[in-house]
Amino acid sequence: TRIVVLISGNGSNLQALLDQSEAGQLGGQIAAVISNKADAYGLQRARDAGIATQVVSNQDYSDRAGFDAALMQVIDRYQPSLVVLAGFMRILTPEFVRHYQGRMLNIHPSLLPRYQGLHTHQKAIDAGDKEHGCSVHFVTEELDGGPVVLQARVPIFADDDASTVAERVQVQEHAIYPLTVRWFCDGRLVMQQGQVYLDGALL
Ligand code: GRF
Repeated sequence: TRIVVLISGNGSNLQALLDQSEAGQLGGQIAAVISNKADAYGLQRARDAGIATQVVSNQDYSDRAGFDAALMQVIDRYQPSLVVLAGFMRILTPEFVRHYQGRMLNIHPSLLPRYQGLHTHQKAIDAGDKEHGCSVHFVTEELDGGPVVLQARVPIFADDDASTVAERVQVQEHAIYPLTVRWFCDGRLVMQQGQVYLDGALL
């Protein structure tokens, strides 16, 4: 399975995938890492692992449709069967999402459907939640709304702030994202007509 990973920043989830790959446990091959930001630290992680990198800067395009079309072209050069969004901080057009329907995954730092969008850790704290987490989901046209594949839950303690919670959640992100990518690569995870199946069972 050829995988293209899209990032915008630090790339700690990318690193988890690279480590899994290095250990021969990813079930697929990361063909390229693409960032919309030239200074994303994740690009360095990719280079260090000997993976091809590309920058497609949204600032070079006057509108979302132009950027998405250019990005799609660069991605498709690598002929991926899976596109992994790993901290890619751009909202994608319906055309783009449809093009990768059933073969694009995202990780979101909340227990979806709770807290879509940004600042999820602070939102969970402000709501007085005792529990928070992260979700891997297939990407559909609804932002952070595609069917969930796997979640990990963590506690929120009284003395937590957004950064301590984020740290606790990220440890779990780095566990569940490589695992779900592996499932996809092994043909165990499929999205069909908006439903997700693992080993033929509806999730
Ligand atoms: C993660 O918290 C992920 O859930 C969110 O963006 C962040 C990316 O972190 N989508 P990193 O770049 O993988 O370190």
